Amino acid sequence: MRQTDVLIIGSGVAAFQLARKLRSDINVMIITKSHMKESNSYLAQGGIAAALGEQDDSEKHFHDTLAAGRYHNNPDAVRKLTATAPSVIKTLVQQGCPFDKDAQGKLLLGMEGAHSENRIVHGGGDATGKTIMDFLISQRPKNVEVIENSFVYEILVENNTCIGVKAKNEDNQIDYFLAHHVVLATGGCGQLYRYTSNAETVTGDGIALAYLAGAEIADMEFIQFHPTLLYAGGKTCGLVSEAVRGEGGRLITEDGKAIMKDVHPLADLAPRHIVSQTIYEYLSHGEQIYLDISPVKDFSSRFPTISDLCRKNGIDLKEKRIPVVPGSHFLMGGIQTDLVGRSSIQSLYALGEVACTGIHGANRLASNSLLEGLFMGENLARWLNTQSFSKSHKLPVWREPSENRSIKDLPDLQELKKAMMDHAGIVRTRAGLMSLINWLERFGGEQVGDGNLDHMQKDTLTRMFMLITASLIAKAALQRRESRGGHYRQDFPCEKNHGWQQKQIIHCRKKEKGKVDEQIKVATIT
Ligand code: SIN
Repeated sequence: MRQTDVLIIGSGVAAFQLARKLRSDINVMIITKSHMKESNSYLAQGGIAAALGEQDDSEKHFHDTLAAGRYHNNPDAVRKLTATAPSVIKTLVQQGCPFDKDAQGKLLLGMEGAHSENRIVHGGGDATGKTIMDFLISQRPKNVEVIENSFVYEILVENNTCIGVKAKNEDNQIDYFLAHHVVLATGGCGQLYRYTSNAETVTGDGIALAYLAGAEIADMEFIQFHPTLLYAGGKTCGLVSEAVRGEGGRLITEDGKAIMKDVHPLADLAPRHIVSQTIYEYLSHGEQIYLDISPVKDFSSRFPTISDLCRKNGIDLKEKRIPVVPGSHFLMGGIQTDLVGRSSIQSLYALGEVACTGIHGANRLASNSLLEGLFMGENLARWLNTQSFSKSHKLPVWREPSENRSIKDLPDLQELKKAMMDHAGIVRTRAGLMSLINWLERFGGEQVGDGNLDHMQKDTLTRMFMLITASLIAKAALQRRESRGGHYRQDFPCEKNHGWQQKQIIHCRKKEKGKVDEQIKVATIT
């Protein structure tokens, strides 16, 4: 049994920003199921958006974020984020974070889709995630302990207050961690889909854990599909950053036709859902799409990570075209929180992609995610720093297994990923979602997690968490009978501003006297 003041699950940008901003007398533990440097944050190629240019101001960044989010965002949250972004970057620069600069020492500001100004700060060209993560990790204070290879599988809740978690260590032994405050920063759920830019560890655990604990989960139908994942050998092999299109790259067919030209005024830099849907249309007619990089100057030095990825996967950059397909990239929904990171369960918080703060709306604007992690990590630290930490922890009531439910069957992961891609992916229909939901329910759907989980192996727990998260996505996508941002219904292809704008689909389950009550409700964004 271990005890601490603040327990953080996950090791991305939000986790390390929070940890380093907490008071030095607060004991902090970061638990990660793999290694500290294995996260979506570390992989991020795109940068951090901030209105730093001479022509730019945070109001423009605010409006771009709302337009990309299809006005499903919480405007107050977006205003605070965009107004704070310049000082977030300036502080990091002052502290020594090595962002890319020009010969005069001025920050280079790049362009990405749906931004009206050049405002993307990068590190290492296309290695911004690595740059910022290496910097944050190097700043880790002495009061922060990191525990690797520890898989959290249950959140301990007493009287709607979180008191800790149960985890399995490297030897599959159970560890109890008790804490005054528990923070989920576990990332999204990209690995639910056959094609994804996400790290292998990003399997929706945090969402399933919070759901099983009774926290409110919102906006699960909004999944962002990134238009350009490198496609080689019949599979996706990583991201080809939107910054390539920001530097002039164009999407073309085998015959060289520019596919975005007449689709949207911003052409290749249109919002991601529009570009992804356009590519999907061509792919479903059997046409391969390429990213033509011939207009991009000094490709290999500007994009070293992507060049390396191409070489490793047998793509000859001399051909000047990279085969691409769209794939899951970011979850806009997640654990419902306020701008401090508080969930609907006392002392349980969520930060970064696992959280739904209302900042991203129905579709996240490019390069707003590392920004959100930095912003929210600091917000929560500021609030926790005002709290007092009494050292007398009550142990949780030991919950002897009431039922030793064995889960008979869980879906095969490749089948699950294919079914999600086919039916809850870029294009959705009622019939497809119904067949997906029926299939998921054969394995128990989102209700599968009841009973004692102690005896399960980590890979079984992961599959169960994936099943739960997939079911939440499918049910929310069926419920929302309109198209908006990352949610496209072929049978309801338009936005319904009277009816669905600013309306959220929220999942919640309560367990009282051994009975589980699963609810799905529609509420207005506040
Ligand atoms: C990209 O570089 O295209 C990804 C950036 C992001 O998703 O914000």
